[in-house]
Amino acid sequence: MSVLIKGGRIVTAADDYSGDIFVEDETVTLIGRSLDVQADKVIDASGKYVIPGCIDPHTHIEFPFGGTTTIDTWTSGTAAAAFGGTTSLVDFCVQTPGDSLAAALADWHRKIENNKPVIDVGFHMAITDLSDPSQMDELRRIVEEEGVTSYKLFMAYKGAVMVDDETLFKVMQQAHETGALVMVHAENGDAIDVLVKQAIAEGKTEPKWHAATRPPVTEGEATNRAIQLARLADAPLYVVHVSCKEAIDPIARAREADWRAWGETCTQYLFIDETHLDQPDFEGAKYIYTPPPRPKENQEHLWHALSTGVLSVISTDHCPFNWDGQKTLGRDDFSKIPNGGPGIEDRVMMIHNFGVRQGRFSLNRMVELLSTAPARFFGLYPRKGTIAVGSDADIVVFDPEKRKTLSASTHHSLVDYNLFEGTEVTGAPEVVMLRGQVIVENDELVAEPGAGQFVRRARFGEELPGSPGQRPITVG
Ligand code: URP
Ligand code: ZN
Ligand code: ZN
Repeated sequence: MSVLIKGGRIVTAADDYSGDIFVEDETVTLIGRSLDVQADKVIDASGKYVIPGCIDPHTHIEFPFGGTTTIDTWTSGTAAAAFGGTTSLVDFCVQTPGDSLAAALADWHRKIENNKPVIDVGFHMAITDLSDPSQMDELRRIVEEEGVTSYKLFMAYKGAVMVDDETLFKVMQQAHETGALVMVHAENGDAIDVLVKQAIAEGKTEPKWHAATRPPVTEGEATNRAIQLARLADAPLYVVHVSCKEAIDPIARAREADWRAWGETCTQYLFIDETHLDQPDFEGAKYIYTPPPRPKENQEHLWHALSTGVLSVISTDHCPFNWDGQKTLGRDDFSKIPNGGPGIEDRVMMIHNFGVRQGRFSLNRMVELLSTAPARFFGLYPRKGTIAVGSDADIVVFDPEKRKTLSASTHHSLVDYNLFEGTEVTGAPEVVMLRGQVIVENDELVAEPGAGQFVRRARFGEELPGSPGQRPITVG
């Protein structure tokens, strides 16, 4: 099967030019002006942006958490991703305390067998329990044999998945040996646990207390602690879902000093603030995710950090719980509301509209934040994260003029609300292609479950080559 994408504005993290892209089977094989080739399918991309498929490195699909399980299946969650222009995601495989890492990995593989994905997927390993010493060997094995090349640690959620500093540091030391990237959820879980218990004892049970009991300084402290411990262990560190100035500051210092520490933020932190938690009739529970929505002034700090390179990636932390029946588990106690929000379908449209169209950064930077940087951090580049000869033909034809209103009534996730309900955007994916196969066209999913594959990722700092013998070069 061959596809010719004609006359689009091809935008990568580095380039921006008009041209044609020829795809044979799964791979980009030719890029040039007015290519004279026969193709089985021709896509007219004139007036459109042609960008690499976006990569979401932070999702929680079919994730048992907070006494319930996220509502998207691997099929529905990845379909929603595809509609939004995301062609690969990396999800958190989470060790159940007391069980082995191997059992967790087998469980996550079983999930993608049962509900097959329509985009490509990889797994991070979230370590919650190192009490069995053989898990240290397992940390090496999953990197070498399973292509799971990033370790995640929660510094919060005490009594559930939180680890202490000893575990955190030992995993960092092991990452130094194995070449994995360490990821942290950075909040001081001990202090938060005290504050939550005090609030509940005082009868402060409404959703707004979720934010009040996890103040920005708890995120700032843990972010700095993780950065310093990673320096000590000489391990690379990636701080997930940075939400506030207190956490940006230590990352900015690390970037300036050229320490191996980086950070991502998520779409919601750029738009939702702490006042959303105070909506009446328990509506505020929709915005219970962790870290919580922050005071509004943090949003400009986040945009600035994204445009100056202090923050490196925008992910979604897609962790969808229905409001009705799941969020309502905590109607009388905010600490029982499952933590997490949806957003996998909206990310690219939101960032294009409010990041690029509103002049906060360039199209190249958008591609870098949503595709190229996640590909590089998580061992997918240059197979993914760019448009180049030899790379996977994961391509989004994006119509910069298409208008959409974001809404739960039209999105493709199974979740019953949308964090950005009613937001109007200009610019949306028109055709989405995964390894040369069109998976979304004319607002229809045209791929079967199983179109997506599990991807074994390269170690941090190493490349995942494209098609054999080809190097990623761009012919403009
Ligand atoms: O509230 C959130 N973010 N839920 C998912 C787990 C995590 O902390 O990323
Ligand atoms: Zn987290
Ligand atoms: Zn998360």
